[in-house]
Amino acid sequence: MSSRSMRGREVVVSVKELFKGFDAGRIQVLKDVTLEIAKGEVVALWGASGSGKTTLLHMMGGLDTPDSGTVWVGGLNAAEERDRLALRRQKVGFVFQLHNLIPDLSVRENCLVTSIATGGDSKQFESRFEELAQELGFDHRQDRRIQDLSGGERQRVALCRALMHRPDVILADEPTGSLDEKSGERVFELLTGLAKKEGTTVVMATHERRFADACDRIFHVRDGRVSEIGEG
Ligand SMILES: Nc1ncnc2c1ncn2[C@@H]1O[C@H](COP(=O)(O)OP(=O)(O)OP(=O)(O)O)[C@@H](O)[C@H]1O
Ligand SMILES: [Mg+2]
Repeated sequence: MSSRSMRGREVVVSVKELFKGFDAGRIQVLKDVTLEIAKGEVVALWGASGSGKTTLLHMMGGLDTPDSGTVWVGGLNAAEERDRLALRRQKVGFVFQLHNLIPDLSVRENCLVTSIATGGDSKQFESRFEELAQELGFDHRQDRRIQDLSGGERQRVALCRALMHRPDVILADEPTGSLDEKSGERVFELLTGLAKKEGTTVVMATHERRFADACDRIFHVRDGRVSEIGEG
Protein backbone atom coordinates (compact mmCIF):
# COMPACT_ATOMS: atom_id res chain seq x y z
CA MET A 1 0.00 0.00 0.00
CA SER A 2 2.74 2.45 0.94
CA SER A 3 4.35 2.00 -2.46
CA ARG A 4 1.30 3.36 -4.25
CA SER A 5 1.71 6.81 -5.66
CA MET A 6 -0.46 9.81 -6.34
CA ARG A 7 0.70 12.43 -8.83
CA GLY A 8 4.16 10.99 -8.31
CA ARG A 9 3.98 11.18 -4.52
CA GLU A 10 3.67 8.37 -2.02
CA VAL A 11 0.15 7.82 -0.67
CA VAL A 12 0.14 7.72 3.14
CA VAL A 13 -3.59 7.82 3.87
CA SER A 14 -6.01 5.88 1.73
CA VAL A 15 -9.70 5.62 2.61
CA LYS A 16 -11.96 3.61 0.35
CA GLU A 17 -15.74 3.19 0.40
CA LEU A 18 -15.80 3.71 4.14
CA PHE A 19 -19.07 3.40 6.03
CA LYS A 20 -19.41 3.94 9.77
CA GLY A 21 -22.48 4.07 11.96
CA PHE A 22 -23.36 3.83 15.61
CA ASP A 23 -26.08 2.24 17.67
CA ALA A 24 -26.23 -0.95 15.62
CA GLY A 25 -26.52 0.98 12.38
CA ARG A 26 -29.42 3.17 13.49
CA ILE A 27 -27.15 6.20 13.16
CA GLN A 28 -25.25 6.33 9.87
CA VAL A 29 -22.36 8.77 10.19
CA LEU A 30 -19.84 8.16 7.38
CA LYS A 31 -21.31 7.25 4.02
CA ASP A 32 -19.12 5.91 1.25
CA VAL A 33 -16.05 8.01 1.98
CA THR A 34 -13.14 7.68 -0.43
CA LEU A 35 -10.02 9.85 -0.34
CA GLU A 36 -6.26 9.72 -0.69
CA ILE A 37 -3.62 11.89 0.93
CA ALA A 38 -0.01 12.04 -0.19
CA LYS A 39 3.09 12.20 1.98
CA GLY A 40 3.79 15.72 3.24
CA GLU A 41 0.39 17.16 2.38
CA VAL A 42 -1.48 19.36 4.84
CA VAL A 43 -5.19 18.80 4.30
CA ALA A 44 -8.33 20.06 5.98
CA LEU A 45 -11.44 18.09 6.82
CA TRP A 46 -13.77 21.04 6.77
CA GLY A 47 -17.38 20.83 7.78
CA ALA A 48 -20.13 21.78 10.17
CA SER A 49 -20.59 20.39 13.65
CA GLY A 50 -21.89 16.82 13.53
CA SER A 51 -20.84 16.23 9.91
CA GLY A 52 -18.49 13.35 10.81
CA LYS A 53 -14.98 14.88 11.03
CA THR A 54 -14.02 13.38 14.38
CA THR A 55 -15.46 10.01 13.43
CA LEU A 56 -13.29 9.99 10.29
CA LEU A 57 -10.15 11.05 12.17
CA HIS A 58 -10.74 8.30 14.72
CA MET A 59 -10.81 5.72 11.90
CA MET A 60 -7.54 7.09 10.49
CA GLY A 61 -5.92 6.97 13.93
CA GLY A 62 -6.96 3.42 14.73
CA LEU A 63 -9.15 4.64 17.60
CA ASP A 64 -12.27 3.11 16.08
CA THR A 65 -13.04 0.59 13.35
CA PRO A 66 -14.92 0.89 10.04
CA ASP A 67 -18.21 -0.96 9.49
CA SER A 68 -17.15 -1.55 5.91
CA GLY A 69 -14.59 -0.21 3.49
CA THR A 70 -10.88 0.22 4.09
CA VAL A 71 -8.60 2.68 5.84
CA TRP A 72 -4.86 2.37 5.25
CA VAL A 73 -2.40 4.67 7.00
CA GLY A 74 1.34 4.39 6.49
CA GLY A 75 0.96 0.88 5.13
CA LEU A 76 -1.14 -0.32 8.08
CA ASN A 77 -4.75 -1.47 7.93
CA ALA A 78 -6.90 0.37 10.48
CA ALA A 79 -9.50 -2.38 10.31
CA GLU A 80 -7.04 -4.96 11.68
CA GLU A 81 -6.60 -5.20 15.44
CA ARG A 82 -2.92 -6.12 15.15
CA ASP A 83 -2.20 -3.14 12.89
CA ARG A 84 -4.11 -0.64 15.01
CA LEU A 85 -1.70 -0.74 17.95
CA ALA A 86 1.30 -0.08 15.69
CA LEU A 87 -0.70 2.59 13.92
CA ARG A 88 -1.35 4.46 17.17
CA ARG A 89 2.15 3.97 18.53
CA GLN A 90 4.25 4.64 15.47
CA LYS A 91 2.41 6.06 12.51
CA VAL A 92 0.12 8.76 13.84
CA GLY A 93 0.20 11.56 16.37
CA PHE A 94 -3.20 12.67 17.59
CA VAL A 95 -3.99 16.24 18.68
CA PHE A 96 -7.33 16.33 20.44
CA GLN A 97 -9.66 19.32 20.52
CA LEU A 98 -9.31 19.57 24.28
CA HIS A 99 -5.64 18.59 24.36
CA ASN A 100 -6.10 15.57 26.76
CA LEU A 101 -2.96 16.38 28.73
CA ILE A 102 -2.43 15.32 32.35
CA PRO A 103 -3.05 18.51 34.37
CA ASP A 104 -0.88 17.59 37.36
CA LEU A 105 2.20 16.76 35.33
CA SER A 106 4.64 19.26 33.89
CA VAL A 107 5.05 20.14 30.22
CA ARG A 108 8.14 17.94 30.04
CA GLU A 109 6.47 15.01 31.82
CA ASN A 110 3.42 15.15 29.59
CA CYS A 111 5.56 14.97 26.49
CA LEU A 112 7.86 12.24 27.71
CA VAL A 113 5.35 9.99 29.44
CA THR A 114 3.82 8.48 26.33
CA SER A 115 7.17 8.11 24.58
CA ILE A 116 8.61 6.25 27.55
CA ALA A 117 5.49 4.07 27.74
CA THR A 118 5.92 3.02 24.11
CA GLY A 119 9.58 2.10 24.66
CA GLY A 120 12.72 3.30 22.95
CA ASP A 121 15.78 5.32 23.75
CA SER A 122 14.97 7.84 26.49
CA LYS A 123 18.02 10.00 25.60
CA GLN A 124 16.66 10.37 22.10
CA PHE A 125 13.26 11.37 23.42
CA GLU A 126 14.89 13.91 25.73
CA SER A 127 16.70 15.56 22.87
CA ARG A 128 13.63 15.40 20.63
CA PHE A 129 11.68 17.12 23.41
CA GLU A 130 14.30 19.86 23.77
CA GLU A 131 14.21 20.46 20.01
CA LEU A 132 10.41 20.65 19.85
CA ALA A 133 10.12 22.74 23.02
CA GLN A 134 12.32 25.33 21.38
CA GLU A 135 10.47 25.20 18.05
CA LEU A 136 7.12 25.53 19.81
CA GLY A 137 8.28 28.33 22.06
CA PHE A 138 7.92 26.88 25.53
CA ASP A 139 11.47 25.82 26.28
CA HIS A 140 11.60 28.14 29.30
CA ARG A 141 8.30 26.75 30.64
CA GLN A 142 8.95 23.05 30.46
CA ASP A 143 8.73 22.48 34.22
CA ARG A 144 5.41 24.29 34.60
CA ARG A 145 2.36 22.18 35.28
CA ILE A 146 -0.28 21.95 32.54
CA GLN A 147 -2.97 23.33 34.85
CA ASP A 148 -0.96 26.57 35.13
CA LEU A 149 -0.79 27.16 31.36
CA SER A 150 -3.10 29.09 29.04
CA GLY A 151 -5.23 27.29 26.45
CA GLY A 152 -2.86 28.21 23.62
CA GLU A 153 0.16 27.03 25.58
CA ARG A 154 -1.57 23.75 26.40
CA GLN A 155 -2.38 23.17 22.75
CA ARG A 156 1.28 23.78 21.84
CA VAL A 157 2.25 21.11 24.38
CA ALA A 158 -0.32 18.79 22.79
CA LEU A 159 1.39 19.40 19.41
CA CYS A 160 4.73 18.59 20.98
CA ARG A 161 3.43 15.34 22.46
CA ALA A 162 1.94 14.31 19.10
CA LEU A 163 5.23 15.01 17.29
CA MET A 164 7.58 13.33 19.81
CA HIS A 165 7.81 9.96 18.05
CA ARG A 166 8.10 11.50 14.57
CA PRO A 167 4.82 10.11 13.25
CA ASP A 168 4.16 9.92 9.52
CA VAL A 169 0.79 11.57 10.01
CA ILE A 170 -0.55 14.15 12.45
CA LEU A 171 -4.28 13.88 12.98
CA ALA A 172 -5.47 17.13 14.52
CA ASP A 173 -9.06 17.43 15.67
CA GLU A 174 -10.03 21.11 15.77
CA PRO A 175 -6.67 21.99 17.33
CA THR A 176 -7.64 25.67 17.27
CA GLY A 177 -11.27 25.15 18.28
CA SER A 178 -11.02 26.18 21.92
CA LEU A 179 -8.67 29.11 21.34
CA ASP A 180 -9.10 32.80 20.66
CA GLU A 181 -8.26 34.08 17.17
CA LYS A 182 -4.65 35.00 17.85
CA SER A 183 -3.62 31.85 19.74
CA GLY A 184 -5.55 29.76 17.22
CA GLU A 185 -3.50 31.23 14.42
CA ARG A 186 -0.27 30.68 16.34
CA VAL A 187 -1.07 26.99 16.90
CA PHE A 188 -2.06 26.56 13.25
CA GLU A 189 1.15 28.23 12.01
CA LEU A 190 3.30 26.13 14.32
CA LEU A 191 1.58 22.90 13.34
CA THR A 192 1.75 23.46 9.60
CA GLY A 193 5.22 25.03 9.75
CA LEU A 194 6.73 22.15 11.68
CA ALA A 195 4.94 19.57 9.55
CA LYS A 196 6.27 21.11 6.33
CA LYS A 197 9.77 21.32 7.79
CA GLU A 198 9.77 17.67 8.87
CA GLY A 199 7.78 16.29 5.92
CA THR A 200 4.93 15.17 8.16
CA THR A 201 1.47 14.74 6.67
CA VAL A 202 -1.31 16.63 8.46
CA VAL A 203 -5.02 15.90 8.46
CA MET A 204 -6.79 18.65 10.35
CA ALA A 205 -10.48 18.82 11.20
CA THR A 206 -11.83 22.34 11.32
CA HIS A 207 -15.09 24.18 10.87
CA GLU A 208 -13.23 27.41 10.11
CA ARG A 209 -12.85 28.11 6.44
CA ARG A 210 -9.86 30.45 6.91
CA PHE A 211 -7.78 27.57 8.31
CA ALA A 212 -9.05 25.20 5.63
CA ASP A 213 -8.07 27.73 2.96
CA ALA A 214 -4.53 27.82 4.30
CA CYS A 215 -4.15 24.03 3.77
CA ASP A 216 -2.91 22.37 0.57
CA ARG A 217 -6.30 20.75 -0.07
CA ILE A 218 -9.77 20.88 1.45
CA PHE A 219 -12.08 17.91 1.88
CA HIS A 220 -15.60 19.11 2.56
CA VAL A 221 -17.38 16.85 5.05
CA ARG A 222 -21.13 17.23 4.73
CA ASP A 223 -23.56 14.90 6.40
CA GLY A 224 -21.06 12.05 6.40
CA ARG A 225 -20.05 12.43 2.77
CA VAL A 226 -16.69 13.80 1.71
CA SER A 227 -15.82 15.67 -1.47
CA GLU A 228 -12.74 17.58 -2.42
CA ILE A 229 -13.22 21.30 -2.93
CA GLY A 230 -11.84 22.75 -6.15
CA GLU A 231 -11.32 19.34 -7.71
CA GLY A 232 -11.42 19.29 -11.49
N1 LIG B 1 -20.27 6.97 19.75
C1 LIG B 1 -21.31 7.53 19.12
N2 LIG B 1 -22.56 7.06 19.26
C2 LIG B 1 -23.60 7.62 18.60
N3 LIG B 1 -23.49 8.66 17.76
C3 LIG B 1 -22.27 9.17 17.58
C4 LIG B 1 -21.11 8.66 18.24
N4 LIG B 1 -20.03 9.37 17.83
C5 LIG B 1 -20.51 10.30 16.99
N5 LIG B 1 -21.85 10.19 16.82
C6 LIG B 1 -22.70 11.02 15.96
O1 LIG B 1 -22.09 11.10 14.69
C7 LIG B 1 -22.25 12.38 14.12
C8 LIG B 1 -20.90 12.92 13.71
O2 LIG B 1 -20.12 13.17 14.86
P1 LIG B 1 -18.66 13.71 14.80
O3 LIG B 1 -18.19 13.83 16.21
O4 LIG B 1 -17.86 12.87 13.90
O5 LIG B 1 -18.92 15.13 14.15
P2 LIG B 1 -17.90 16.36 13.95
O6 LIG B 1 -17.94 16.74 12.51
O7 LIG B 1 -16.59 16.01 14.53
O8 LIG B 1 -18.61 17.50 14.81
P3 LIG B 1 -17.93 18.71 15.68
O9 LIG B 1 -17.53 19.77 14.68
O10 LIG B 1 -19.06 19.16 16.55
O11 LIG B 1 -16.79 18.15 16.45
C9 LIG B 1 -22.98 13.21 15.15
O12 LIG B 1 -24.33 13.27 14.82
C10 LIG B 1 -22.78 12.45 16.43
O13 LIG B 1 -23.84 12.64 17.31
MG1 LIG C 1 -15.49 16.76 16.13
